Amino acid sequence: DVAEKGGYPDFMLKEIHEQPRVIRDTLAGRLSGGALSIDELDMTAEELNLIDRVYVIACGTSYHAGLIAKNLIEAWARIPCEVEVASEFRYRNPIITPTTLVVAVSQSGETADTLAAIRDARVRGAKVFGITNVVGSPVARESDGVIYTKANKEIAVASTKSFLGQVASLTLLAMLLGQSAGKLTTAQIKLLFSELADTAEQVERILADCGPAVEEAARAMVDAQSALFIGRGMGAATSYEGALKLKEISYLHAEAYAAGEMKHGPIALIDENFPVIAIATNSPVYDKVVSNLQESRARGACIIAVATEGDEEILKHADHVIYIPKVRDAFSPITASVPLQLLAREVAVLRGCDVDQPRNLAKSVTVE
Ligand code: AGP
Repeated sequence: DVAEKGGYPDFMLKEIHEQPRVIRDTLAGRLSGGALSIDELDMTAEELNLIDRVYVIACGTSYHAGLIAKNLIEAWARIPCEVEVASEFRYRNPIITPTTLVVAVSQSGETADTLAAIRDARVRGAKVFGITNVVGSPVARESDGVIYTKANKEIAVASTKSFLGQVASLTLLAMLLGQSAGKLTTAQIKLLFSELADTAEQVERILADCGPAVEEAARAMVDAQSALFIGRGMGAATSYEGALKLKEISYLHAEAYAAGEMKHGPIALIDENFPVIAIATNSPVYDKVVSNLQESRARGACIIAVATEGDEEILKHADHVIYIPKVRDAFSPITASVPLQLLAREVAVLRGCDVDQPRNLAKSVTVE
């Protein structure tokens, strides 16, 4: 068991530390002469260029990867993209035409609702791409094309490395759609690809450096009854995953909100016993997030911020800051998710929880 964990106290921590390798493996061999290719999708640029609507369907953490992808697909390919939990998608009457692409994301490749949604989408005439971590899984077999995430087997019930593998793969898919639609130039593709590749090293730095800040933040929130995760734009998508991770393994209730929604309800919850974890990395909406932090702090909340290295301003608004390297906003979920994974794990450890085998949860949900 100890050997299998590679010297780490639990599989979750081992898997968190594998993420730089996952990013590198995901990108290997994808860029040649300035052109991006995902050959296993078996679709020509002309065919890809016909796509005029994208649905990402998934559950849980995989759904959160989809929320990140929506931002990228719409920004880079200018194709409308909706993200839906598979259990909703399968029971409604979505608008699907032969030029609709459905992207089904499932680590295990056997989630019952995601599979049912794939079948339904294909009957309705959509092209379906699967993104999965398990070779030969039902999602892989039943999709028209498949991208395998390069996470390798994930043992901890809470997904970490498979999530980053999904985000990296969906980022490539968004770039490919942008390339095929003629919305991204060769120079832009090269630049994005090289910055995406740099995130592997940036995640390594986070793993090496942010331990003390994460421990301090975990101690500050360990006795809370509830926590609120907030962010805007890419930070909102990241915060949903941060809250889910915390709930799953520490049993500390957490909610996540797009920070602009605070005034519309959640701010009523805020008091000194309600920590707020904010994604406050560099982005076009940084100032807006800071003003949400000020509002929360004025009501006594303990603020934990994930912020960009060099940002001194944030120290005025937060009680605890976890700094991460500067990256393009589009790639911030890749870096900002890592301290949130570590934070969830640290809180769970402090609360005496079994981080690898949380109660009531299974690694794959093969029944509805
Ligand atoms: C992630 O930490 C969870 N264990 C869970 O939300 C999971 O992501 C969800 O059940 C979907 O699983 P899948 O990716 O295997 O389809």
